[in-house]
Amino acid sequence: MIIDYGKRSDILAKVPEAWIEDYDDAWLIPGMIDGHVHYPQYYATAAQGGQLLDWLVQSILPAETAFADPAFANDTAKRFIKHLLSCGTTTAMVFGSQFAHANEALFNAARELGIRLIAGATLMDTPADGIPDALLQTPKQAQADAEKLIAICRDEPLLHYAITPRYALSCSEEMMMMCHELLHNHPETYLQTHINENRNEIRAVLAHFNQCKDYLEVYERYGLVTDRTVLAHNIHPSDGELDRIGQAQCSICHCPSSNLFLGSGLFPLSRHIKHGINIALGTDIGAGVSFSLWSNLSDAYKIQQLQGLSLNPEHLLYLATLGGAKALHLENETGNFSTGKSADFFVLDYTRSDYLSERLRRCNSLEAQLFCLLHLASERQVESTYVRGRRVFFYPS
Ligand code: GUN
Ligand code: ZN
Repeated sequence: MIIDYGKRSDILAKVPEAWIEDYDDAWLIPGMIDGHVHYPQYYATAAQGGQLLDWLVQSILPAETAFADPAFANDTAKRFIKHLLSCGTTTAMVFGSQFAHANEALFNAARELGIRLIAGATLMDTPADGIPDALLQTPKQAQADAEKLIAICRDEPLLHYAITPRYALSCSEEMMMMCHELLHNHPETYLQTHINENRNEIRAVLAHFNQCKDYLEVYERYGLVTDRTVLAHNIHPSDGELDRIGQAQCSICHCPSSNLFLGSGLFPLSRHIKHGINIALGTDIGAGVSFSLWSNLSDAYKIQQLQGLSLNPEHLLYLATLGGAKALHLENETGNFSTGKSADFFVLDYTRSDYLSERLRRCNSLEAQLFCLLHLASERQVESTYVRGRRVFFYPS
């Protein structure tokens, strides 16, 4: 737990007996919060397939079927969590597999390796061209699987369950109603899904749900838009949707690298801020091409530059840390170095790069240095990662 923060000399005066780990000139940064990442897409990064709907069928759904194999799922779960920790991510909100054994492996890996995890099975039950049968579940089986993991999470302070209907086109009315029932019966759970990511996707959703005036209404009809809901993307919302998202105090997760890779569009950040909406950032692996949320901040900056908004480095860092924590209702636990919070942070050792050391020496403020680091540093400079004060990753020397 964080018991104090400030100048070394002031803190040592208060606790002279403290055990010291000295990272010299490296920076300690609050652990990053990845608000949207797909575990079964671990090996589906940088896959060809065009934009969202074609890419899903061509590259992603076939990759997700590999998790039917328990040994593969186990191995991948451990590598996936280790990879996130190695990037300074201490909290991740994860779309899980369609296979119950693979999700058990994910929760076990998280518990063993020490990340803060919010995750649940990715739900699909509407057969369509290009969707492998193996990925379809029945609402009844999905409910039973979810209940088991929800029960496990009750005794685990770092594990949380997220009900995860994949998106409007993948779930039947029965599946959506089952999701609502789970959310209602277990108010401590979250709900995560996708919305307004791609223009062809939006057209398909509105054609299918032709009684709904917009995409959000599909989820509203089933009672899935609440203050426990995190909607990924929302690149193309109407003002009406933003109003209702704000009123429901539902959170949005912006995934910069993914939006660029899939050519989905430019996230309208200032419209979200105007509506008072809490925003998290996500890598959206495998549509994103970087596991590092830090690298996603550089993309987030450029996406806003293209729309005439030049974000300052404090705002960017906030989005990946305390902003994400607020969006996920974890701001009392993590997100910054406030006294009483969990000691979730990483050590960014820019001195490992000769160029970075020289570049930072030429900055005339801490803010300028942070701005440089946001664009120039990467997971290669993450020296160690801590969750709840436990070192869960260190750079192999
Ligand atoms: N919409 C539905 N499924 C997915 C997915 O796996 N990735 C992204 N980026 N969007 C989706
Ligand atoms: Zn996604």
